[in-house]
Amino acid sequence: MTAIRSLRAVLLDDHGRIETFLDSILNLLARNELAVIEQEWAPFEDVVLAHLDGEEMHVIPTFAKADPEGARRILAEHARIREGLSRLGVAFELRRVRPNDVQDLARLLVDHAMTEESYLYNWSETHIQREASSRLVRRIASTWHPFGDRRRTRRR
Ligand SMILES: [Fe+2]
Ligand SMILES: [Fe+2]
Repeated sequence: MTAIRSLRAVLLDDHGRIETFLDSILNLLARNELAVIEQEWAPFEDVVLAHLDGEEMHVIPTFAKADPEGARRILAEHARIREGLSRLGVAFELRRVRPNDVQDLARLLVDHAMTEESYLYNWSETHIQREASSRLVRRIASTWHPFGDRRRTRRR
């Protein structure tokens, strides 16, 4: 397996991990376990932000040369995801979160993942240099810990 192939695999796995994490948050919300969500939210944010940052640093700049409009669309979706994350973070702190707000973010993340998986990730297999893909894989891997694992630390 080449480094480039493993980049696509890692990004796909990461989308799956983000969805699983969100499902856990939604389940906690259904049980009104707000204190647990508060603890889990920061690590969840770290996972999503590391994914977005990694794509923006190591994939999108090269992609933008081939498809500027496609790159702009992905960056605009990243901005909406960041905004949703930060809005929900505040809502959790204030204990004023509504399940619909979490579902909106979940929908946004799933739609975004579908866009990337249908085009960008296949493209990246043949266009992203091995060195860039290794750095992105390392960045994402550094946030990989099981849900509820207290050893996770905030991203610096
Ligand atoms: Fe993305
Ligand atoms: Fe992605």
